[in-house]
Amino acid sequence: VSLRPYNTFGLDVQARYFARFASVDELRQLLASPPVQAGPLLILGGGSNLLLTQDFGGVVLKNEIKGLEIISEEADTHTALLRAGAGESWHGLVEYALDQALSGVENLSLIPGTVGAAPLQNIGAYGAELQDTFERLEALAIGTGELRVFSKEECGFGYRESVFKGPLKNQYVVTAVVLRLHRAEAQRPTNSSYGAIQETLAELGIEAEPTPRDVSQAVVHIRRSKLPDPAEIGNAGSFFKNPEVSQSKFDELKSRYPTLPGYPVPGGVKVPAGWLIEQAGFKGLRRGAGAGTHGVHDRQALVLVNHGGATGQELRELAEEIIRAVGTQFGIELHPEVNIL
Ligand code: EPU
Repeated sequence: VSLRPYNTFGLDVQARYFARFASVDELRQLLASPPVQAGPLLILGGGSNLLLTQDFGGVVLKNEIKGLEIISEEADTHTALLRAGAGESWHGLVEYALDQALSGVENLSLIPGTVGAAPLQNIGAYGAELQDTFERLEALAIGTGELRVFSKEECGFGYRESVFKGPLKNQYVVTAVVLRLHRAEAQRPTNSSYGAIQETLAELGIEAEPTPRDVSQAVVHIRRSKLPDPAEIGNAGSFFKNPEVSQSKFDELKSRYPTLPGYPVPGGVKVPAGWLIEQAGFKGLRRGAGAGTHGVHDRQALVLVNHGGATGQELRELAEEIIRAVGTQFGIELHPEVNIL
């Protein structure tokens, strides 16, 4: 089975077996089947954070568990709990929340991928992260078939990190996520402090008190202007994480590169990998036959792109070349944000 329709890089690799599940029971049945028992296993959501570099000799299971529901209202805290099946599209959840007059996820508008994949890397954008609204999730243990609830603490969220990328990697399948969202009339309806959001709201002529829908509209506007649409150009969003350096390292770099941006974080300074990659000369690069099959996006250097016909191997080699170049020029080691398989 070609996995081409199931990864946003549009890479044409083959999987030995492929199946979908739409419920926890279907998932349990598949997990008990001989091909899965023989391994290896890959659970797929939207395939939007994945670089496939070779054919997969095992079973690929696509999570299609649906459902969007408000499961409780808490008048005193002005919040509501939204439960979503892991196979729902993330942006679909955002739209649903906006329709229900709930805020908290509007900054995360238009992020590709599914609800179930969101906690794995604690998706984040424009001043918000999943963990800001996360309440709990339900996940099935691959080894035992048991369902388990994980609290926010148990998920071990960090910057693009969770326990499911670390110690519990490949051990659970997320089946549902519960978020605690704000009733729009509550105290803190939106978070529009991020510079680019403010500029875009002003551009769009939106006044002082933006609604969650206004913020969503601004984010959609920014993303469309910077990030390639995977339906048009294969990509997996940011390919690398933004690295953190010590304050002294930052000061030293800043004296050599006065325009270097940096954001203070506990224990140091976070620098945008996109800036480093652009400075290293890769922005807009095209490699491969003819006009180029793959390269680096021309409006956001953090995004590697497949213009069509690239292999995962070629993209991985380009990523390695970028890591070497940034390491040599700045003495900073970049780490991929996408899962490389
Ligand atoms: N920059 C450049 N050149 C570039 C790209 C960026 O100089 O080609 C510099 C600019 O100075 C800019 C700064 O980097 O001000 C930050 O750029 P941007 O706001 O585009 O954000 P980012 O740090 O590159 C991160 C996330 C994105 C998220 C945006 C917005 C990571 C790895 N990426 O990118 O997430 O949308 O912030 O909050 O943290 C994703 O994870 O797939 C993703 C797209």
